[in-house]
Amino acid sequence: MSSPDLADADRQAVLDVINTPFLSMGKYTKDFEKAFCDLTGAKHAISVNSGTAGLHLCVRAAGIGPGDIVITTPFSFVSSSNVILFENAIPVFVDIDPRTGNMNPELLADAAKNIKKHLPRVGATRASPKVKAILPVDVFGQPADMDAINAVAKEHGLTVIEDSCEALGATYKGKQAGTLGDYGVFAFYPNKQITTGEGGVIITDNDKAADLMRALRNQGRAPGDTWLQHTYMGYNYRIDEMSAAMGASQMTRLDELLSKREQVAAWYEARLSDIAGVEVPYVEPYTTRMSWFVYVIRFEERINRDEIAKRLEARGIPVRPYFLPIHLQPYIAEQFGYKEGDFPVTEDLGRRGLAIPFSGVMTEEQVDFVCTILREELTKI
Ligand SMILES: Cc1ncc(COP(=O)(O)O)c(C=O)c1O
Repeated sequence: MSSPDLADADRQAVLDVINTPFLSMGKYTKDFEKAFCDLTGAKHAISVNSGTAGLHLCVRAAGIGPGDIVITTPFSFVSSSNVILFENAIPVFVDIDPRTGNMNPELLADAAKNIKKHLPRVGATRASPKVKAILPVDVFGQPADMDAINAVAKEHGLTVIEDSCEALGATYKGKQAGTLGDYGVFAFYPNKQITTGEGGVIITDNDKAADLMRALRNQGRAPGDTWLQHTYMGYNYRIDEMSAAMGASQMTRLDELLSKREQVAAWYEARLSDIAGVEVPYVEPYTTRMSWFVYVIRFEERINRDEIAKRLEARGIPVRPYFLPIHLQPYIAEQFGYKEGDFPVTEDLGRRGLAIPFSGVMTEEQVDFVCTILREELTKI
């Protein structure tokens, strides 16, 4: 499906680390974090060992606890909802914009005003009556409509945690993704725009929250604590120096990495736009730079997506349905009583969307190959 784009300099950076005795909490972690402050203008960047860890620390820093309501989207990777559940808070879903797959701000505004109407069937008695935060996701590398989301947050006094795990380097009306809420989080699994193997970074301008998150990622050690003193109950969410060194090196290549992905997306668009029954990704005018994470096409209703997926796999092309709705994942559906039909736009995109092979190292010939096979198989069903 994907392949990291590593240069000799990225490999050398890791070798440099392992030739020293400093494998954790050293110079490279600081360099990596500085690269994020430089890119985004954020006051603080806090590196962690996954995007999920980063989102979890934001939930902790925002003071979200048992029964608190966080409005989020069911069209995402599960960790954007899991981090709410980690704190026994309640994710309340609103449906999405059918073109971008991002949170629908009108539904968000309605939910913030009339939360009772949007509570899940089961488990709502645990919910406090007040909404605490909004957790929008920049889906597939395209920022959510953050002006509209922030307007709702302002009206109701809510914290905004922007899940930019899929959108490093994207811009919204000229502003960097991740900087648009109170907190932003990026992730670096090997299919992401830059990779550290595993890793994540939080950005924020909030000094107090940054101090707390630095302590929580480091087993709850506050500034001044010794190695065996723990002011808070924390976690081991630290990134190691090998990962940070790879990430710092990759960050120096960010523009090149994003441009290569833009080129692959453009090759796909040119070849897929005229195939009947296939829709290519929609990019909003407000998205001043798309940071292509995956390339998800949609099929018209009449085409059986799962059948075409099977045929592509059989011909050696890996593909993946994207996303399976969060509210229908068994542990969520069971806990909150969700059923098919609850979030129709999310379910519709979940049924019709297919991620096809995508990375910055794909060649034009490989893109041609995927598109030719797709075209052939579509004529057969
Ligand atoms: C939208 C979204 N949120 C959160 C994450 C979690 O990141 P990680 O896999 O690094 O924990 C991902 C990554 O896959 C993601 O796509």
